[in-house]
Amino acid sequence: MALDSLPPAPQAAADRAALLRQQLHHHAHRYYVLDAPEIPDAEYDRLFAELQALEASHPALRSADSPTQRVIGQVLDGLAPVRHAAPMLSIQTETDTRPEGARAFDARVRRELELTDEAPAVAYAAELKFDGLAINLRYEAGVLVQATTRGDGETGEDVTQNIRTIGQIPLRLQGAADALPAVLEVRGEVYMRRDDFERLNAQQRERGEKTYVNPRNTAAGAVRQLDPAVTAARPLSFYAYGLGEAVGLPTFARHSELISWLQQRGLPVNERRRVCEGADELVAFHRAVEAERDALPFDIDGVVYKLDRLDWQRRLGFKSREPRWAVAHKFPAQEQATRLNGIDIQVGRTGKLTPVAKLEPVFVGGTTVSNATLHNLFELRRKGVRVGDAVIVRRAGDVIPEVVGRMPGERAAYVPNFRMPSACPVCASPVKREQGSLEHRCTGGLFCAAQRKQALLHFAGRRAMDIEGLGDKLVDQLVEAGLVRTLPELYTLGIAKLSALERMADKSAANLLAGLEKSKQTTLARFLFALGIRHVGESTAKDLARHFGQLDALMDASVEQLLQVNDVGPIVAESVQQFFAQPHHREVIERLRAAGIHWPEATIDADQPKPLAGQTLVLTGTLPSMGRDEAQALIEAAGGKVSGSVSKKTSYVVAGAEAGSKLAKAQELGVPVLDEAGLRALLAPAHG
Ligand code: IVH
Repeated sequence: MALDSLPPAPQAAADRAALLRQQLHHHAHRYYVLDAPEIPDAEYDRLFAELQALEASHPALRSADSPTQRVIGQVLDGLAPVRHAAPMLSIQTETDTRPEGARAFDARVRRELELTDEAPAVAYAAELKFDGLAINLRYEAGVLVQATTRGDGETGEDVTQNIRTIGQIPLRLQGAADALPAVLEVRGEVYMRRDDFERLNAQQRERGEKTYVNPRNTAAGAVRQLDPAVTAARPLSFYAYGLGEAVGLPTFARHSELISWLQQRGLPVNERRRVCEGADELVAFHRAVEAERDALPFDIDGVVYKLDRLDWQRRLGFKSREPRWAVAHKFPAQEQATRLNGIDIQVGRTGKLTPVAKLEPVFVGGTTVSNATLHNLFELRRKGVRVGDAVIVRRAGDVIPEVVGRMPGERAAYVPNFRMPSACPVCASPVKREQGSLEHRCTGGLFCAAQRKQALLHFAGRRAMDIEGLGDKLVDQLVEAGLVRTLPELYTLGIAKLSALERMADKSAANLLAGLEKSKQTTLARFLFALGIRHVGESTAKDLARHFGQLDALMDASVEQLLQVNDVGPIVAESVQQFFAQPHHREVIERLRAAGIHWPEATIDADQPKPLAGQTLVLTGTLPSMGRDEAQALIEAAGGKVSGSVSKKTSYVVAGAEAGSKLAKAQELGVPVLDEAGLRALLAPAHG
């Protein structure tokens, strides 16, 4: 038998186990906290398996801080209460949610510190207010021994075995054991990243299971689980922001220094923090973070300001259960509870039936919301909402308001489950659902007034035919009076027909006619987009126009030929081919051309340099001398694409004045940022 296959002698085993533990701690920190692994996952797994095997043959080697002890523990009957060594306090909230609200806190601190008006600006540690669950992590001699929830502030619950499953939380602090504090309680927030939350919900959807309402509740529920296997299956993250009991801690002068020290001990801390000097900088911090809020990878509900000097924190002390030296400055809530008064059906341009929640009006995300999408019947069922329920409405940034779920609680009375109508509520045509699709559709096509209206609005839109003077109200009137049934009929309108409409002033009639006349001079890409072919958005329309150059060539293209077009896949190719195969659509196109719609014939521009070919740019903010449309046209002429959102695939973000969340996102993802001059330099070869 080979010598190295014998069970190792205890001392050698102990040394080897210690080395493996050290390596595994190091690599877990690189992987979970720094997001910068140095070794492949398989190598980590190999080291892990070796340690597990060693510990199995020598149980005495097992220690609480061993990475193997992250493995899932026992199902519990209940969570045990734990009295906090130092109470977990709450924090005062600044009620004025405007950025200027920060001034009240600074004024109060200065008054309580008895600073004169001449005294210099006070330094504050400004941090994000993470929207998750507060946790106390107790380390003794550097080893995680207990994790507890806040509970009522005096007594929390023991969630140690659940917290151990969170990879980001170190089981052992970094640093030499004799240099670590005898006791160190780290306070922080367990939360769930938005992308992890979305992935989890996608998984639930795939399994036909109930989706979760928001990342915070999901994170909190996962931590307070009795079965640690369930916690382990939820992707949780952690940020440290303060301390509880500490014995043998080095002395720090400032909170900001303490946070950096925690970071060096291997604890995740958030980078979006800074020391602000005085009220003006607090206001600026609040304003900047609010602009970045929607681009952050996790939810926050505001920012927190803390007096940076720890001696001053001690001087101010506490008022009842709250420190006088800190304040939470919240943003307007993005979620609110309200009542679901009814469910309406909206018919879209393609005939899709969308259930829309009619809500008791509620102020959320900065506006009053009374309608919110419920997406489709299956989404609605999964959310389990019924008319009369108290529901949670969410509106984040520019995103359309959404009903995320119902508030817990019993219904007072039986309410039948919502059903999709079998006939279109607008035109009474049968409603169908294609096999495998989640969408119900009205089969009426352009016979359906709702689809006709939406098709006209789309055709007239600014990015399509850009017909000035043709808005919502007028389209309603034209369709309801039976004046326009098909797109070409728009161009047969004259003063006589229009003046027959109620409340139609001569001026608006003349405006519309001028708008129609002007729209006749267009581009092939706009015309294609305006037709409303399924799956052909603005960018695909441009690709098609660029590739074929002429409409007739496109109309006769086979699926194979269409597949040659940049970014066109089988679904789009199929849809385009089918659209032009219908004689009815060809007739519409002929009549539109006969009405005078025209575009410049394509110049074959293959010889022109395309310095931005294959690149995607995102525009944000106001450029000093270029309009947004102009910038987009120049980028496209240079072969580039313009997208509305920043991702890892974005080549450049072009940022002007007042750039907000897109700039922040670019910085977070490490996407290069250009100003107008930088953009011009990129484009230069195209003009040279
Ligand atoms: S400091 C004594 N800092 O907000 C002050 N709290 O505190 C202790 N929270 O549920 C709190 N982010 O979990 C502090 N950067 C941050 C925070 C933060 C989120 C939570 C905390 C608690 C609530 C009030």
